[in-house]
Amino acid sequence: MASRNSLKVVTIVGARPQFIKAAAVSRSLKPSAKEVILHTGQHYDENLSKVFFDELEIPFPDYNLGVGSATHGAQTGQMLEKIEAVLIDEQPDWVIVYGDTNTTLAGALAAVKLHIKVAHVEAGLRSFNRQMPEEINRILTDHISDLLLCPSDVAVNNLVDEGIIKNVIIVGDVMADSLMFACEKANQQSTIIEDLGLTPGDYYLGTIHRAENTDDPFRLRNMLDAFVALDGPIVIPLHPRTRLAIQRHQFMAFLEKPNIIARAPLGYLDMVRLEQSAMMILTDSGGIQKEAYWLKVPCITLRDETEWVETVELGWNVLAGATTPSILEAVETFSIPKQHPDLYGNGKVGDKIVKQLVKTN
Ligand code: UD1
Ligand code: UDP
Repeated sequence: MASRNSLKVVTIVGARPQFIKAAAVSRSLKPSAKEVILHTGQHYDENLSKVFFDELEIPFPDYNLGVGSATHGAQTGQMLEKIEAVLIDEQPDWVIVYGDTNTTLAGALAAVKLHIKVAHVEAGLRSFNRQMPEEINRILTDHISDLLLCPSDVAVNNLVDEGIIKNVIIVGDVMADSLMFACEKANQQSTIIEDLGLTPGDYYLGTIHRAENTDDPFRLRNMLDAFVALDGPIVIPLHPRTRLAIQRHQFMAFLEKPNIIARAPLGYLDMVRLEQSAMMILTDSGGIQKEAYWLKVPCITLRDETEWVETVELGWNVLAGATTPSILEAVETFSIPKQHPDLYGNGKVGDKIVKQLVKTN
């Protein structure tokens, strides 16, 4: 084991799920490494960024590049240039990148060109749909990373199929750590169920934010039609991309329907509290599919494929696509499986990741 602070790590984050993932690793890094946190500014609204730093007790970022929203090329390009400048100054032993956003790809690419080692957390996931920007980001990031930290056997096998076999390690999923950290805190501090006048176990929770769903008016309309047809209230924390798409496609009337509770994006504690007591979750989010599984809440995934295939194989998650009939059928026919084996780690994934960084250094 390295002595105190002998390892220097630059953590590169920029989007909501990355703050949640990095929170756990950051806590685990504290005893054995110096961590520099670089926020690209991909997400900048307070309820997509700052709230997670506060609630998950993540140190204030050392750098915020303020890149903001733009087309893929412009956003990724600006990040690349600005991250490179920071890495030249900081000269870390490792750069850690998370998941599959434009921030992930820019971080990995900037580092590898400077011969700085890259650790990719959530390596090996594939949807096999190259229309998704995330699929391109993950494939490229995996192929230039020095340490591939995978959540599952399936992820490892995906890498093997692409010829990546060196420094591929199953550590589990670091989101489990953050969920465990937040559950009790959420129950103590969040009043969202009372604030929204909900009865625990008697409401749905829905999220939509994938480009493939928001940018296609047919898919978006079908999902909203399905939400309106549900037999109970549904809370929808609206990602800004989705709110903008609803406005653009002139679907605002859906948000006024009696069972629709549309809100701004929620902080993590409110979200976790709502997830825990939901009757069912309908989502296109990667992170929320896993959280639903860990919390034993039925999940309907509003996509045609998922990276988290184990949750579907075990029956806790149903891939419903994005037509109103297919979504409603999935809701009506869902049956709670008897089995709920452990998936993706036990909440000590942050520690395992740090151990691998020290070992591979
Ligand atoms: C990004 C990731 C996606 C991830 C998601 C997590 C990419 C290609 N996509 O999608 O993989 O699942 O984050 O939430 O990296 N906007 C705001 N305020 C903000 C940020 C964004 O209003 O703070 C609006 C802007 O209009 C922007 C749009 O949301 O154009 C989309 O933001 P962007 O970061 O490009 O992608 P996400 O949809 O958030
Ligand atoms: N989340 C949140 N507030 C919300 C919506 C999501 O705290 O209003 C959390 C959610 O619990 C999960 C993560 O954000 O931990 C998922 O992020 P997102 O769906 O944006 O991205 P994905 O996981 O699909 O990349």
